[in-house]
Amino acid sequence: MTLEIGVDSTFTQSVADRLQSIEDRLAASAFGDTPFVTEAATHIINAGGKRLRPLLVVLASQLYDGADADAVERAAMVVELTHVASLYHDDVMDEADLRRGAESANHRWSNSVAIMVGDFLFARASSIVATLGVEYVALQADTFARLVQGQIAETRGPSGGDDRVAHYLQVVADKTGSLIATSARFGGMVAGAPEPVQRALAAFGEEIGVVFQLSDDIIDIASDSTGKTPGTDLREGVWTLPTLLVRASADPADARLRELIGRRIDDPGELAEALALMRAHPALAAARDEVDRRAQLAKEHLAVLPASAAREAMFELCDQIVSRSS
Ligand code: IPE
Ligand code: IPE
Ligand code: MG
Ligand code: MG
Repeated sequence: MTLEIGVDSTFTQSVADRLQSIEDRLAASAFGDTPFVTEAATHIINAGGKRLRPLLVVLASQLYDGADADAVERAAMVVELTHVASLYHDDVMDEADLRRGAESANHRWSNSVAIMVGDFLFARASSIVATLGVEYVALQADTFARLVQGQIAETRGPSGGDDRVAHYLQVVADKTGSLIATSARFGGMVAGAPEPVQRALAAFGEEIGVVFQLSDDIIDIASDSTGKTPGTDLREGVWTLPTLLVRASADPADARLRELIGRRIDDPGELAEALALMRAHPALAAARDEVDRRAQLAKEHLAVLPASAAREAMFELCDQIVSRSS
């Protein structure tokens, strides 16, 4: 899927030009001191990806005239490099073998290489964010702390007595919403947006970040063509909204599925069985309804923003994120 922003052609062209320039600078920012570091660090960057976070920086920066183009590009690089660093680490945690349609770094080299390259990219993001100013550094650091704590909370699972769906939604907000919120806020900061607009941008980013991750979790079950291996969450025994809804069902017809999703699934035949049962289950439709509901909430935050082509593009983006998993 490519994210399209087709509101008016001058605006679309200026966003596309900015994104192309970011693209050129991203790969260069991941160069290391040896050919191996450069190869391993550019591997996942060059494999593509939707560049949702840079897009949000650019869109938010265009709410007002006169944002410094170079600063916008640096802010976009910071969020994408942070994201890619987290993907290197995430694929170790999830034992994933495919990322952005390419072999994951842990699978191609080793877990140690993937972890160190993730750290290297995070260091590159830190160097760049330092050029933007102390308030950007502080926000980037707080965001990464939240993201990592979301990943830790997912790994640890809920404690006894915690509501499982509430725990999951907090994980999603922290591991995914946090960086997408910061992407939108960075764009507003570079453009000199007033604080209430920055707050609305962050709230919007957080909400569509949650929608985005809920969609991603549905796609893990529903789609075979994502550049990732379908059923990774099921295989790893990671609970997501659709499986949590099945878990909560008391229907005896769900007994076999409940047994399968309650543990890791290493056997390929059982994984295929679990995927087929999940795909046919009403829980998948219920999770899609939640995606729709929260996308509407995201749109409400846009009311505070100045009416502009950039705001229209953010509305469109909400619809596109929903349609990914519908
Ligand atoms: C993948 O993020 C991890 C999640 C937070 C869902 P993206 O779906 O934005 O990944 P890329 O950047 O397009 O590869
Ligand atoms: C990834 O979450 C979140 C971060 C990288 C912080 P997932 O593990 O659900 O994402 P995918 O499906 O591997 O992209
Ligand atoms: Mg993963
Ligand atoms: Mg994960």
